[in-house]
Amino acid sequence: SGTNMMRVAVIGGEGIGPEVTAQASRVLAWFSERRRLPVEVAEAEFGLEAYRRTGKVIPPETRAAIEGADAILFGATGGPETAEVPPEARREGSLLKLRRSLDLYANLRPIVTDPALYDSAPLKERVLNGVDFVIVRELSSGIYFGEPRGIESRPDGSRRGFNTNSYTSEEIRRVARFAFELARSRRGRLCSVDKANVMEASVLWREEVIALHADEFPDIKLSHMYVDNAAMQIVRAPSQFDVMVTDNIFGDILSDCAAMAAGSLGMLPSASLGPADAQGRRTALYEPVHGSAPDIAGRGIANPLGSILSVAMMLRLTLGRPDDAILLERAVGDALAHGARTADIAEPGRAPVSTAAMGDAVLASLDRLA
Ligand code: NAI
Ligand code: MG
Repeated sequence: SGTNMMRVAVIGGEGIGPEVTAQASRVLAWFSERRRLPVEVAEAEFGLEAYRRTGKVIPPETRAAIEGADAILFGATGGPETAEVPPEARREGSLLKLRRSLDLYANLRPIVTDPALYDSAPLKERVLNGVDFVIVRELSSGIYFGEPRGIESRPDGSRRGFNTNSYTSEEIRRVARFAFELARSRRGRLCSVDKANVMEASVLWREEVIALHADEFPDIKLSHMYVDNAAMQIVRAPSQFDVMVTDNIFGDILSDCAAMAAGSLGMLPSASLGPADAQGRRTALYEPVHGSAPDIAGRGIANPLGSILSVAMMLRLTLGRPDDAILLERAVGDALAHGARTADIAEPGRAPVSTAAMGDAVLASLDRLA
């Protein structure tokens, strides 16, 4: 392999993860073969199967593949079928812990609505018209990681479960800076979402965002919104947003909500990025926003477009191929325009296609458009 080979670790994981990732891998292979994309793909195990074989949710080979990779393409993890993995092994090999260990602090979740989906989307066409925004979710801190945490037994025999929502100035500033820069490259508007009327971590969040705006980004139009209002606004008028920045738990919840503005959770891709090195390269993990979907796993009916569009983000953000990213996004639009629909985005009364057939449709569109 040449020195300019980029290495991609492909980790399907559990539930529908391997099903959707298989289609995204075919797309990556298409770019490698047809567009001379210099990528070397290493598949790696993660989850229940890995645990059964090696006693670890993330075996050493997988850790090595992750460490040697320029980008990771991840599927999903979790599900009731994994009850046989002891909680300790689960925690040790959790996606949360992996994100933290790679310091993936900036999670980008673009939301666009393809006009071809207006007929099947849960929201009205006039609401969906012109939707094009990005949620930047802080991914390495906040209440999912804060200490102390636990479940304790109390003297009266009752129990108490507790977590800590914690953010430092630096954690807030680095993700806010990322979001301001993204807004500068788009329509110049940033909406910061918090709960500063109630929570101290949010009070600091808002103060830091305001200070950073004054110091470094006075050209950006900054607004603030409480998270409960933001949930409502995403459903009422999602086209008002350009870039939204928020903390870990709010971003988790709001992006599933925002999925309704894209037609289906199965449509949403994401990129999780770490700090830039001296050459501007960032550790990067690409994955669909959805989880392992145990309710439909193993049936070959999941929508692979969130995973396939994550490859488009990889082409743009890690592989240095913005034109190929655009080509892939156009191919997804073309496949939808030609009527390829998995069950989650199928028009009422029309037969849906399988996960693999959706992959076929995107590849056919790539052949057509290339
Ligand atoms: P989920 O995202 O797996 O599923 C929510 C709903 O959306 C389900 O009805 C599912 O069938 C549907 N759905 C999701 N992806 C779809 C797709 N590609 N095509 C068609 N329909 C799709 O969330 P849920 O059910 O709350 O969690 C299931 C498991 O996934 C849990 O163990 C959870 O911890 C885990 N999870 C993992 C994530 C990850 O690996 N990044 C993210 C979210 C949840
Ligand atoms: Mg979520």
